[in-house]
Amino acid sequence: MSNHSNTFSIDGREIPFIAGETVMQAALKANIYIPHLCFNPEFPPNGSCKLCTCDINGRKKSSCCTEAKQDMQVNNETHELTVMRRTLVQMLFVEGNHYCPFCERSGNCQLQAIAYDLGVTDLHFPQFNAQRNVDASHPDLMLDLNRCIFCELCIRSSTEVDHKDIFTIAGRSINKRLAINSKSGLLKDTAMKVTDKSAHICPVGCIIIKGEGFKTPIGQRLYDQHSIRDLGNLRPESAIKAKSIVQPDVKPKKKLKLATCSLAGCFGCHMSFLDMDERLIELLERVELSRSPLNDIKTCAPDCDLGLIEGAVCNTENIAVLRHFRESCKIIIAVGSCAINGGVPSLRNNIDVKDCLDEAYLNGIGLVNPKVPIDKELPYLLEKVYPIHEVIKVDYFLPGCPPPADAFWKILNDLLDGKEPELPYDLLHFD
Ligand code: SF4
Ligand code: SF4
Ligand code: SF4
Ligand code: FES
Repeated sequence: MSNHSNTFSIDGREIPFIAGETVMQAALKANIYIPHLCFNPEFPPNGSCKLCTCDINGRKKSSCCTEAKQDMQVNNETHELTVMRRTLVQMLFVEGNHYCPFCERSGNCQLQAIAYDLGVTDLHFPQFNAQRNVDASHPDLMLDLNRCIFCELCIRSSTEVDHKDIFTIAGRSINKRLAINSKSGLLKDTAMKVTDKSAHICPVGCIIIKGEGFKTPIGQRLYDQHSIRDLGNLRPESAIKAKSIVQPDVKPKKKLKLATCSLAGCFGCHMSFLDMDERLIELLERVELSRSPLNDIKTCAPDCDLGLIEGAVCNTENIAVLRHFRESCKIIIAVGSCAINGGVPSLRNNIDVKDCLDEAYLNGIGLVNPKVPIDKELPYLLEKVYPIHEVIKVDYFLPGCPPPADAFWKILNDLLDGKEPELPYDLLHFD
């Protein structure tokens, strides 16, 4: 008969269980986290991912498939198991094609959240680069098979709950893939609806509801704010309803328009801007890029808020661009030594322009058909190279060659927060 007097131990802690429960079920009830991907408490265990493997009475076994027994000794949090689970996660990443920064499920994805929890920092194994399809044929749903981990939850929910039998597994080994039970093999030719259980069950970013992907901004999603370890079995879809984890009321703030350009510079300042890396995603939540070499838009919106200018003024086109920026942008920031004091391009200021052109186009080493280019399309070189504040009014100066990514981050965030920018000493000195 079922009772609660049965116990077993996980990492030395006594856990009650009801006869017939698995180690995983008892652990979740006791708020003990055992990593799992293919297990979902609404379905019988599948045992495919092996992430829940524990040391059970001295043997490695899946805790989602192993029945709890009286006095069983389970080890869950050991270095050996962490290393093994990390390896399993790395294998899942290289088997599919996972590019989290572009994925609609990022922040709500169990695979990603487990990878963070296990401290996965690289793929370790060579990428398989598997050829997998994306099926965007359905009006409300998208299937990106590049992200499938074969947990089979969609198959089971479609069969057992929706009674539609839409998914199946086809092929073997490296050619294994999730397939659709329709003549065309496309989702559009099935009876699948956005309200089906199988449309919401995928633990990763394989089954996506169109138009929902970016409703909650990145940074405010479930696992952006809570470690999967603290959530036990609470999943993104149920968490929205859970009292303890209230999704923030997301009202999109008005984004500021940001334009950037490079005059006579080396693009090093733009490269440093890109060095903000993943912070760029956060930045793009707050700004919208207008004219910039980063998006190849050539005209500045007339109501730009911020203009970042790299490079010095060395020709007539630079002057036109600068004036256009000043007319279009409320705040202009001179970025880097070239924009602020002429930098490297101004080294020609002691040399006659003609001598410069002769050296570059007539007398240089290795020239074929030496000729100074003259074309009405080409801008005229100015006699001297100027810092930009000698041509237009500049509001702020961001020093460095190039300024570090942290300095970009700080000045932009100060301005976006409506504060007077203040850079700490370590972002201003370069010794
Ligand atoms: S499914 Fe998850 S792990 Fe894969 S790309 Fe999307 S967020 Fe990353
Ligand atoms: S589509 Fe999602 S739910 Fe279905 S098998 Fe792949 S990972 Fe699992
Ligand atoms: S300041 Fe330095 S990094 Fe920036 S454009 Fe000039 S030379 Fe390049
Ligand atoms: S969660 Fe147990 S094998 Fe996947």
